[in-house]
Amino acid sequence: MTTLSSKSHIVGLFSFMLSCSLLAAASAASLKVGFYTQICPSAETIVRKAVNEAVSRNPGMAAGLIRMHFHDCFVRGCDASVLLKSLPGNPPAERDNPANNPSLRGFDVIDEAKARIEALCPGTVSCADIIAFAARDSAYTAGGIYYAVPSGRRDGRVSLSDEVLQNLPAPFFNATQLAQTFARKGLSVDEMVTLSGAHSIGVAHCTSFSNRLYSFNATHPQDPSLDPNYAAFLKTKCPPPLPGAGGDVTTTVPLDIVTPNRLDNKYYSELRRHRGLLTSDQTLMDSGSTSGMVVHNERNGAGWGRKFARAMVHMGSLDVLTETQGEIRRICSTKVVIQWLVWRCDWLLHQLLLENFDMLQVNLLQENPFQENLQLELPSQKDLQLELAALVHQNQQANHSDL
Ligand SMILES: *[C@@H]1O[C@H](CO)[C@@H](O)[C@H](O)[C@H]1NC(C)=O
Ligand SMILES: *[C@@H]1O[C@H](CO)[C@@H](O)[C@H](O)[C@H]1NC(C)=O
Ligand SMILES: *[C@@H]1O[C@H](CO)[C@@H](O)[C@H](O)[C@H]1NC(C)=O
Repeated sequence: MTTLSSKSHIVGLFSFMLSCSLLAAASAASLKVGFYTQICPSAETIVRKAVNEAVSRNPGMAAGLIRMHFHDCFVRGCDASVLLKSLPGNPPAERDNPANNPSLRGFDVIDEAKARIEALCPGTVSCADIIAFAARDSAYTAGGIYYAVPSGRRDGRVSLSDEVLQNLPAPFFNATQLAQTFARKGLSVDEMVTLSGAHSIGVAHCTSFSNRLYSFNATHPQDPSLDPNYAAFLKTKCPPPLPGAGGDVTTTVPLDIVTPNRLDNKYYSELRRHRGLLTSDQTLMDSGSTSGMVVHNERNGAGWGRKFARAMVHMGSLDVLTETQGEIRRICSTKVVIQWLVWRCDWLLHQLLLENFDMLQVNLLQENPFQENLQLELPSQKDLQLELAALVHQNQQANHSDL
């Protein structure tokens, strides 16, 4: 090692240490419409095409993608944490929580859009933004509701199943509980009622509402707030769960029986007719604090559509990561290897000091943090050197005042 190269390494190391703390401390900048106009101009078009193809094959996919955005944003912000797969030997990821597995749909649509985008602009467009675009495109194909999506989100590196149920509303929640869940995210009661209109499309599993048919409470086996004819119809779809069995996890029923694949305000008319499928739907009509909003949305479809668009943009801004926070994943279900190295700063610094790139790779293989994805993601020694050099370069450009 020449004097020159050891010196440059020390500079590099120093910057790298700086980065280890900077990554935690960076502050959020705001999102902006057209974030990719210069750096990946076709990003939004590619997502729209992937969504349109998927929805024309399966109209239910529009609901799936809107729900995915919701489930992503409410848990750790809109950071695509919902897409990360559980890693063996680690706590399970959000994706494997019963609120998501097996009901969450659209992973393949996001993966397809991401693959097409990576082929054109590698490492540029975050999975979190792809989900946000896909939800918007779904609202457009299913309901003609269009809005511009502010973007520039980055992907998170943490996904914990344990965080899902404390953040998402449950299908049995009453209006008060729903309002509280949304308020914790800074969303108003009216936004909650407006966004519930997404249940104008999509389906629910029998397990999410069969208590309303068979075991409501001690005096009423059937929920009296449910239209009896509708309840009779639901019973033909969902037989009583067998004692001791886990319940029917395969059968689904449309959330809006009138226009099941059209995102519109018919959902609210159904609530007024006592045909809300979930307790969390019907409660909006049955609670004094929200019934007026239901009636208003029922009477004013265009106004509801505009509010829905605004509320989606608001929801899409929840706790986002931007700028140097998080990462841009290459594969949406997997964290970038280099970011794993960043978590291991001390060890990495040591290997860097020794210029021990072989050691880095051997260790990666031994720890195998990505299991089946490792082969896809494991960079070559040359790539590793380039990635590290880029990281160091990036840090050198960062503020020295941050010292
Ligand atoms: C809503 O549910 C909570 C928790 O079960 C309960 O304490 C509250 O009384 C309920 N509110 C109404 C209006 O039923
Ligand atoms: C069952 O629910 C109905 C309707 O909400 C209510 O009127 C009744 O008091 C409840 N019964 C019990 C035992 O909680
Ligand atoms: C230094 O930080 C400020 C604010 O944090 C930022 O505006 C500026 O662009 C940074 N400078 C460099 C060279 O990154």
